[in-house]
Amino acid sequence: MNTASPRPLALITGASSGIGAQFARRYAREGFDLLLVARSEAPLRALADDLSAEHAITASVHRADLADAADVAGLVEFITRRLPRLDHLVNSAGTAPEGDLDRMDPDALRQMVDINITALSLLTRAAVIRMRDAGTGTIINIASAAGYQPMPHYAAYAASKSYVIRFTEALSEEHREHGLRIFSVAPGDTETPMNPGPTKNKRQPQQVVETAWRAMGTGAPSVVDGRANSLLALLSTRVLPKRFGLRTAEKMMRARA
Ligand SMILES: NC(=O)c1ccc[n+]([C@@H]2O[C@H](COP(=O)([O-])OP(=O)(O)OC[C@H]3O[C@@H](n4cnc5c(N)ncnc54)[C@H](OP(=O)(O)O)[C@@H]3O)[C@@H](O)[C@H]2O)c1
Repeated sequence: MNTASPRPLALITGASSGIGAQFARRYAREGFDLLLVARSEAPLRALADDLSAEHAITASVHRADLADAADVAGLVEFITRRLPRLDHLVNSAGTAPEGDLDRMDPDALRQMVDINITALSLLTRAAVIRMRDAGTGTIINIASAAGYQPMPHYAAYAASKSYVIRFTEALSEEHREHGLRIFSVAPGDTETPMNPGPTKNKRQPQQVVETAWRAMGTGAPSVVDGRANSLLALLSTRVLPKRFGLRTAEKMMRARA
């Protein structure tokens, strides 16, 4: 970590692949130094080396299992005491174990809550404290379009992302007057290692990142990536009666469960 760098610094979790890695590329292009976080050190290091060479920035790697309380505490400590500065935080790490609750592996369920909710909340808290001291900063929490609709057969994951949306929206307002820009971005179906293979209307990680980039300059507390996903979120939160939305979601998700 270059403590004398004049460049802003972005910390990105889940940077070893998919949407997080794409955020890292975008921030590097914008001239940010990077701290890249995930469990897989080799892809993180390869990305950090590529981006450092290509963009004349400093990219460092912090290996952490965000389902492990000690690793999360270590990263919080790093943010609080050892990072020279923190300008942007992107919480992109997440897991999405599919299927009905009764058939889900209990360890996978616990890890999902630990990563999608607990780690995201603790890292956001650490960042907010640092950014409030600095009087500026941006936090982007990656939610999901699934977070706008209770999802039968995908109940826990969708609810974890509802938490991300509501948590982030509340913080967005709470910290606006302190100079912080905080918002969530909800991707729909996006082609990444978590959701591989092209299907109709699937989005690319670059599109999710560009949606986030556009939102940065607005005051929106949350955004949805893509027109079709935005329309679905609007229908399920503001237009359709709850029971109709639930029944439709149940039919859609039954085949995947
Ligand atoms: N792809 C989609 O269709 C879609 C749709 C809606 C929302 N999202 C959300 O978008 C975010 C990024 O997902 P993605 O699609 O880019 O999937 P991805 O390519 O699988 O990325 C997930 C990232 O999370 C990291 N991660 C997983 N478990 C971790 C752990 N225990 N500790 C630390 N890092 C961990 C992974 O790194 P390591 O495995 O190296 O640790 C990886 O970098 C997630 O929050 C996901 O819920 C995705």
